[in-house]
Amino acid sequence: MTAKIAVGISGASGALYGVRLLEELKKRGAETHLVVSVWGEYTIREETDWRVEDVKALATHVHEPSDMAAPISSGSFPLDAMVVCPCSMKTLAGIATGFSEDLIMRAADVCLKERRKLILCTRETPLSRIHIENMLRVTDAGAIVMPPVPAFYTRPQTIEEVVAQSVGRVLDHLGLPIKGQKRWGM
Ligand SMILES: Cc1cc2nc3c(=O)[nH]c(=O)nc-3n(C[C@H](O)[C@H](O)[C@H](O)COP(=O)(O)O)c2cc1C
Repeated sequence: MTAKIAVGISGASGALYGVRLLEELKKRGAETHLVVSVWGEYTIREETDWRVEDVKALATHVHEPSDMAAPISSGSFPLDAMVVCPCSMKTLAGIATGFSEDLIMRAADVCLKERRKLILCTRETPLSRIHIENMLRVTDAGAIVMPPVPAFYTRPQTIEEVVAQSVGRVLDHLGLPIKGQKRWGM
């Protein structure tokens, strides 16, 4: 069965992680539901050579962050998992408190209440106590907090390799591993 995955790109640094994730999900034939926040669009433009339209074209469906009537806003829509990649501290805070201000937060909230897989690629440094508490809170509620922290044992030579390694670990958790992913001991 085709995997139905929601992808949120929020305005934390690391838009390229979200783009790479969408590329890999497309290759695997997943049905993707993409929501890019206003600041997610900004970081795509600022940090990458991608046009926002081209990033959106990688997804099967694109929803506006303000569209609370999108299918992924309801638990009745049979979504398999959601990844927020990258996940800003603001979006994390919204998810941690159940304050579903936009569709990324709402769809994540739905994943938690429906006990579906929710992966948050949180990105900020250094972390305040508030950030850490919010990560604990979402972890207690069932989310997987997965900051895109590079592994150096794979000896990455390029930014693309650094990004691919972290995205590969996310795909492992979605049950859609990348063939040839560099792994310790293999
Ligand atoms: C270039 C740029 C980089 C940013 N990087 C981060 C970051 O790494 N982590 C973070 O939490 N916020 C970061 N921010 C701030 C968020 O974009 C801001 O808090 C925004 O309100 C998040 O909204 P959103 O979660 O709806 O996308 C960054 C902003 C800009 C313009």
